[in-house]
Amino acid sequence: MDSLQKKYEIDKHTWDECAETYERQIVGGHPDILAFEEFEEDFLDRVLRYLSEKQKRPIKLMDIGCGSGRLHVRYGTKTHSIAELAQSHPLSLLKMNSPKLAYDPVIAKSLIEVWGIDFSRKMIDLAKDKLQKVGLKNHHEMALTFEQGSAFELEEQSGEILPVAICLVNSIGVMQGFEGANELFKSMRRAVESANGIAIISCYQQEYIKSYGLGQYESTIDVSGQPIWMQPDTYASSQFKQIPKQYKLAYSNDNKLIVDVFDLHDNLIKKGYVLVRDPDKTEQTIKTGDINTYSKYKSHWYSYDHIEELINDHWETQKSYHIKTRYLDIIRAEPAQMAILDFGDHLKNIFKL
Ligand SMILES: C[S@@+](CC[C@H](N)C(=O)[O-])C[C@H]1O[C@@H](n2cnc3c(N)ncnc32)[C@H](O)[C@@H]1O
Repeated sequence: MDSLQKKYEIDKHTWDECAETYERQIVGGHPDILAFEEFEEDFLDRVLRYLSEKQKRPIKLMDIGCGSGRLHVRYGTKTHSIAELAQSHPLSLLKMNSPKLAYDPVIAKSLIEVWGIDFSRKMIDLAKDKLQKVGLKNHHEMALTFEQGSAFELEEQSGEILPVAICLVNSIGVMQGFEGANELFKSMRRAVESANGIAIISCYQQEYIKSYGLGQYESTIDVSGQPIWMQPDTYASSQFKQIPKQYKLAYSNDNKLIVDVFDLHDNLIKKGYVLVRDPDKTEQTIKTGDINTYSKYKSHWYSYDHIEELINDHWETQKSYHIKTRYLDIIRAEPAQMAILDFGDHLKNIFKL
């Protein structure tokens, strides 16, 4: 087995194991991550509305590393009119509580499918459960589909539809290291090239690990495990659960984290236990961009230059954009960047940066 395949198998197992906690604590949790996800969603709405108005082909959204189906729920809901649904239908209730999920006739006109791929069976099961719960199991106007499989083996799409392939919220950072990142760029290009489609990779920047990353991973210690830069490691093993007492937000200067420690039967072992940043390991994390935890979780925050290199290597530069997203939204997207491949030159008028 080659090294990429080996990492793929290990990571697949890890994501299956942490799927439920990830959904609860990250997707529904950390305020800075939520804000960034909302920015990505608003950005995508804008792109889809623009494409829907400016070109004639139906659109297929391809969500690479789709996780628990955040975009299936979003666009399933936004393209579903509730005119004929009872007020007590879960979809009516969802829309009542979230104005952002109101019916969008412009997107509904063109978006015919949201297709997601993820290597984790557990993630896909969670996504399907969510669709069931919100009453989107049978959406008549559009297909909400999933495939369990590899982000690196995307198939070429046919030219009758406009494929928009997206890989959001730093998923590239958990896709099996540099080899994985190269494969992802190649694979997304293969998927959209002959259909003159669009590929978008949105991820954090290494340059913001100090101000955003450290605190984010510390606050989600119960999902990804104890960051290796936090000491001591007394309760860092999988025999214990450490529940953080607070979320650390961007630019927090607090180098301590207070946790309650539980055993696997939920017995409280230690209340208000204090972890402190180890200066050398913290420095090393900032310098390398490698986020490691004692639970063998690995992520990488790619520097701006590294993503630029990947664009130059795999996506022809004249058809691509590389955006520091703080120029689009300083409040919600300061620490991130976007690589965009636009074969059909669809987006040139919305990126007059
Ligand atoms: C950071 S999560 C993002 C989930 C989702 N896109 C969202 O926005 O909530 C990354 C996802 O990528 C998946 N993943 C990691 N490596 C993968 C690979 N090589 N192929 C397919 N999925 C992968 C994981 O299972 C996980 O669900």
